[in-house]
Amino acid sequence: MCGIVGYIGPQECVDFLVQGLRRLEYRGYDSAGIVTLGADGAMSIVKAAGRIDKLVAKLAQCATPGSLGIGHTRWATHGAATDENSHPHVGGDGLLAVVHNGVIDNFRPLKERLEAMGYAFRSATDTEVVAHLIAGFWEQELAANPSLDHNDVAAAGYQPLVNAVRSALQLLQGTYGLAVVFREFPEVIIAAKLGSPLVVGVGEGEHFLASDASPLAGFTDKIVFLDDHEIAVLTSDSLRLVHRDLGEKHADVKTLDLQAGDVDKAGYDHFMLKEIFEQPDTLRNTMRGRLSLDEATAHFGGLNLTPKELRSVKRIVLTGCGTSWHAGLVGEYLIEELARIPVEVEYASELRYRNPPLDDGTLMFAITQSGETADTLAAMREMKRMGHMTLAISNVVGSTIAKEAHGGIYLHAGPEIGVASTKAFTSQCVALTMLALYLGRMRHLSFTQGQRIIEQLQELPEHVARALEGDAAIRKIAAKYCECRTFLYLGRQYNFPAALEGALKLKEISYIHAEGYPAAEMKHGPIALVDADTPSVFIVPHGAVFDKVMANMEEIKARGGPVVAITCEDGARDVAGLADDVIEIPRVPDFLQPIVTAIPCQLLAYYTAVLRGCDVDKPRNLAKSVTVE
Ligand code: G6P
Repeated sequence: MCGIVGYIGPQECVDFLVQGLRRLEYRGYDSAGIVTLGADGAMSIVKAAGRIDKLVAKLAQCATPGSLGIGHTRWATHGAATDENSHPHVGGDGLLAVVHNGVIDNFRPLKERLEAMGYAFRSATDTEVVAHLIAGFWEQELAANPSLDHNDVAAAGYQPLVNAVRSALQLLQGTYGLAVVFREFPEVIIAAKLGSPLVVGVGEGEHFLASDASPLAGFTDKIVFLDDHEIAVLTSDSLRLVHRDLGEKHADVKTLDLQAGDVDKAGYDHFMLKEIFEQPDTLRNTMRGRLSLDEATAHFGGLNLTPKELRSVKRIVLTGCGTSWHAGLVGEYLIEELARIPVEVEYASELRYRNPPLDDGTLMFAITQSGETADTLAAMREMKRMGHMTLAISNVVGSTIAKEAHGGIYLHAGPEIGVASTKAFTSQCVALTMLALYLGRMRHLSFTQGQRIIEQLQELPEHVARALEGDAAIRKIAAKYCECRTFLYLGRQYNFPAALEGALKLKEISYIHAEGYPAAEMKHGPIALVDADTPSVFIVPHGAVFDKVMANMEEIKARGGPVVAITCEDGARDVAGLADDVIEIPRVPDFLQPIVTAIPCQLLAYYTAVLRGCDVDKPRNLAKSVTVE
C-alpha cells in the first residue's frame, strides 16, 4: 500500500520518478510527492493531494533539479489525503527526507517523545516520526564525532548514515519499505525493508529503487530483491547491502524478464481491459511446461515437497483475501473432487487470529496475486510457526510471501496493474486445477482420467478467447442495467465462488451494491431484494446442476426480477424463455466453468463502471496491494 521509487545516476531524475510512480499508482493514489537533491544539496520537494496528474501539474510550475531523488504514491493510513500528509517527510530541520510504505504501530509514543524533545510535526502521519528519529540519531552521530567530514562518511561506505537509520529502525514496531536522502549527501540513497517490498535496479552507472519491479521495465533488467532487516546504500556506481543480523551481504542480482510493454496499456483504454483480454495467453503461461500427457499429471518445479510428503497430506487449508480467497473457494471444490483431500478455505484476516485445531499432515497454501498482502502473510507465518508446511500460489516472483513459503507455484500471469484482479484470478484457478490433478494422480485418479483433464485444460485458452468475443454484446447489456442500484449474482457448485467473484468485481469498480449467493440459498433472504430494478446475474452453464439453477431462475422471474443468464452457447435456447438477456460462453466441463464464466462477469463489471464514469483502474478507497492489517 503506497509505492516508492528512487533514482541515482547521471540523468535528471524527475522523469523516472514520475513514470515510476505512475506504474506504482495501483498501490495507492491518494497523493504523491517527490524530493530531488541538486549537486549542491539543494532539496526540492513537491507534493500534491490527489492523483499523480496533480503532482505533474505542480512539477510543471517549479524546477526540481537533481540526479538523485525519491518519490512516493500514497494510500492514506494515518492522516487524510492532504498535501501536508503526502510524502516525502522532512526530518530535523530539513536535514533529510523520507518516503515510507508500511505502518509504524508505535508511532504515537514515539511522536510524544520527539515532540517533548522539540521536534515540530507538520503532518498527521506515522512516517514523520521516522524522519525525525533518523535526524535525531544523525545529529547524535555528528555530535559524537565533530571532526567527521563528508569524505570520511563516503570513505566508510556511508556507515555513519547507516548507523543513524539503523538506530531509528530499532525503535520501530511495524512495517516499512523506506528510502532516505540526506541534504549533505546528494550522492547517496539509504533504503531499508521490513515487511513491505523493496527492490533495487542495477543499471550502468545508475541505481533505481522501487516497491516492485514494474518501474524498472525499460530501464534495467538487473534486479536485487531486498530482504527484511536489510539496509541498502545506493550510489550511482555502488550498491552496499547490510543485514541486521548477517552484516555485509553480497547482492544477489537476478535478471528480470519484464518489458516496458508489460506495464503499459498497449492501446487499451484501461489496464483492466487489457488484462481481461490477455487471459488466453496468461492461462497458457500458467500451464506452460507443467502438464505431462505422458505421465497424465502436472509437474511443479517449486513445491519443495517430495511425492511421499505430499501423499501424507491429510488436509489442505487455503487462505487469502478478496479475489484470491474466491480462487481458494474454487480450489476447495477442485481439490475435494479431483484429489479427495478435505479442504478448508479461510479468510487470512480471520485465520491469523483463529486457533483452529489442525492435525499433522495439514498443508497450507497462501493464495495471493501480489505476495504482499499483510493478512495473508500473517496467516502464513502463524501456520508456519505452528509447524505446518506452508506453500504459496503467487504472481509476483520474489515477493515476501513467495520468499517465506516453503515452496509454491508462480502464476506467470505477468504484472497485474488494474486494481480489480482479473487475469490473476483465472490463473489462480488454473494453478489450483493443476494442483488438484497432481494430488489426485497420487491418489485415485486413473491415467486416462488424468490425460482427459490435461486435454481439457489445454483447450481452455481457446474457450476463454471465445468467451471474450461476447465483448460487444456484454457492453449492451451493461448499458441496459448500469443505472440499477443492486445486483444479485447467483450460481451453484463451482459457479458459487464465480458468483461471489462476479459480485465483487461489480462493486469494486462500479460502486453498485452486488451480492453473490448460492442460487438456491437466495430464497432464504436475498430474494426479498428482488424487484423490477434489481437484476439477477445467473451463472448457469450446462452441467451437473443446470436444471436446479434453472428452477432458481424461475423463482426470480416469478417475482418480476430481470435476469441476465450466462450460459452455454450450444444450449442458449434452454434459458432464452426465462432470461431477459443471455450471455453465451463455450461449453466446458464443470470444474473449468469458473474460469470461463469469470470472463463475462469481468466484462459486465468493466463496461458498467465505464458507463457510469468510474475510474476503473483506480477505484475509490481501494488499493491493489494491501500491506496493512
Ligand atoms: C486487495 C485488492 C484485491 C485483491 C486482494 C488480495 O483488496 O484490491 O483485488 O484480491 O487485495 O490481494 P492479493 O495480492 O493477496 O491477491
